[in-house]
Amino acid sequence: MSSQQTTLETLERLREESVTAGGPKLKEKQHQKGKLTARERLNLLLDNNSFEEFDVLKVGRGGNLGDSTTYLGDGVITGHGTIDGREVFVFSQDFTIIGGSLGEAHAQKICKVMDLAVKVGAPIIGLNDSGGARIQEGVDALAAYGEIFHRNVRASGVVPQISCIMGPCAGGAVYSPSITDFVFMVEDSSYMFVTGPSVVKTVTHQDISSEDLGGASVHSTKSGVAHFTVANDVLCLREIRRLISYLPSNNKQRSPILDLSDSPTRTDPALDYLIPSNSAESYDMHVLINSILDGAEFMEVHGNFARNIICGLGRLGGQTVGLVANQPAVLAGVLDNDASFKAGRFVRFCDAFNIPLISLVDVPGFMPGPDQEHGGIIRHGAKLLYAFTEATVPRISVIVRKAYGGAYLVMNSKHIHCDVNFAWPTAEIAVMGPKGAAEVIYRKEIAAAEDPDKVINERMEEYRDTFANPFLAAQRGYIDDVIFPRDTRSHLIRTLQMLDSKRSEKADRKHGNIPL
Ligand code: HXC
Repeated sequence: MSSQQTTLETLERLREESVTAGGPKLKEKQHQKGKLTARERLNLLLDNNSFEEFDVLKVGRGGNLGDSTTYLGDGVITGHGTIDGREVFVFSQDFTIIGGSLGEAHAQKICKVMDLAVKVGAPIIGLNDSGGARIQEGVDALAAYGEIFHRNVRASGVVPQISCIMGPCAGGAVYSPSITDFVFMVEDSSYMFVTGPSVVKTVTHQDISSEDLGGASVHSTKSGVAHFTVANDVLCLREIRRLISYLPSNNKQRSPILDLSDSPTRTDPALDYLIPSNSAESYDMHVLINSILDGAEFMEVHGNFARNIICGLGRLGGQTVGLVANQPAVLAGVLDNDASFKAGRFVRFCDAFNIPLISLVDVPGFMPGPDQEHGGIIRHGAKLLYAFTEATVPRISVIVRKAYGGAYLVMNSKHIHCDVNFAWPTAEIAVMGPKGAAEVIYRKEIAAAEDPDKVINERMEEYRDTFANPFLAAQRGYIDDVIFPRDTRSHLIRTLQMLDSKRSEKADRKHGNIPL
C-alpha cells in the first residue's frame, strides 16, 4: 500500500470518526426526544449538497477534572452552505457529544465562521442545542463564550444573525441568541433561562418546570425573547429558510427581489368598507396587510407577543418591506410597554438592513394606568419614537383610522420625518379622542348643564366634525394625500419606487443614546 493511499485512508477514517462521534445510542436518544441530530438539521436547512464543513478534525484540550477524552469536531458542526443559492454560515451544536457543551475549541469553531460571515457579508445561523459552558473546562469555557458575545455585538447590523433554540440553552449562554436579530424556539423541546428550575427552587423556594420557566410558549408570549415558535425541528428549519428569503445578505446590500406575479396596480374594493362606521368598533388589521402585500404573503415577527401591534416582513412589487401596524382587534391597538419594545427593535432591524418601513396606523394612544407608567411607558415608548425617527430607510405611513396624541407622532408621522404620509378618508387625527377632548374642554359647561350627556354628545359631534378626519392635517400638508382605501397597494408601490434612490446624511457622532 502506498503512503499516499494510507494517508487517504487515514483521512477517510478520521472524517468518519468525526461524523459518528456521538455514537448510535445517543443519536437514537436524540430522536426519541423528538429532536433531529445536528447534521440532520443542517441537511434540512441548507440547499442539497451545498454544505462545506470546517474543522472536522479539530479537538478540544480535554477537561481539567481527570477525564481527558476528546472528540473530533468537539461537539459542534460548522461551515457554510447556501439557502436558495445564497451563501450563509452555520453552526449546529451536537448534543450527542458532551451534551453539546461549549468548550474552548467548540467556541473557536463558532468564532471562525462568525468572522468569515462578517468578512464576506453573509448571514450567520446558529442551531443551539447545548448544556452550556463545558464545566470541565472552567474559565476557558467562560472566556470562550465571551469571544462569541463579542462577535455577536460586532456583527450586529452588519450581517443578519439568526438563532434557533432546539434544545437546552441555559445560564449566560442565553445572551448570545438574545443579541442576535431573530430567535426561533422549537415547541416542547427547547428552553432558555438564566437560572434553571433547581436554582429557582433553592433561591425562591418555587417549584417550576423548565417548560413553564423558559419554554417556547413563555418566551413567545410573555418575555418576548423568542420571535418565532415552531412545532418541530423540520418546520423550524423551513421557517428559517423562509426568513432568509426576505433578507439582504448584509448591510451593504438590498433584499433580493422576488416576483410573485401580483399586479402592482391591483385594487381591493373591499378595503373601502374595512373600517366600521362606529369608530369604537374593532376589526382585524391582518385583513389590510394581507390585501396589500404581494400574494398575501406575510412573515409575522413576534406574532404571539404584544399582539396589539403587528410587525413583520412582506413584499410590495417584489421588494421586501417591514410592516408596523397597530392592531385594533387587541387592546384597541393601544401602544404599551411590550408593543413599544417589540416595534422599536423591529424598526431598527429593518433600518440596519435597508428594508423600507411602512406603518399602518390606527392607534388610540398610549395605554393609561399605573401598571404601564410604573413599568416605564415613558422610556419604552421613547424607544419606538427614537427608532422611527432615527430610521433612514424609505418610510411610508398610512393612517387608516385613529391617530391620537403622542402615539400619532410616534407611529412614523410626518413630524418625525416620515417620507410620505397617506391617510384614508376614515382617518381621525387629533390630540385625543372626541369624548376625552369634550370632557376636558367643556368641563364647566358640562358641570352646569341640566342634561350633561346631551352636552357631551353635542360637543363630541362638533369635535368629531372639526378634528376626527384627515382634512385639517391634509390642509396643513402633514398628510401628503388622502387616498381611496382600495388603491392603497398601488400608492405604496409607486411611492416605494420613487423613494428607491433616497439618500440620507448620518449625524457626525459615535452613536446615539437610544433609551434602552
Ligand atoms: C459538561 C455537560 C454539560 C456541561 C451536559 N453535559 N451539560 N458536560 N458541561 N455544561 C453532559 C452530561 O454530563 C452528559 O454526559 C451529557 O452531556 C448529556 O447530558 P444529560 O444530563 O445526560 O442530558 P439531559 O438529561 O437531556 O439533560 C440536559 C441538561 C443537563 C439539562 C442540559 O445536562 C444539565 O443540566 N447540564 C448542565 C447545565 C448547566 O448548568 N450548564 C452550565 C450553565 S451556565 P454523559 O457523559 O453523562 O453522557 C453557563 C454559563 C455560560 O453556561 C456563561 C457565559 C458567560
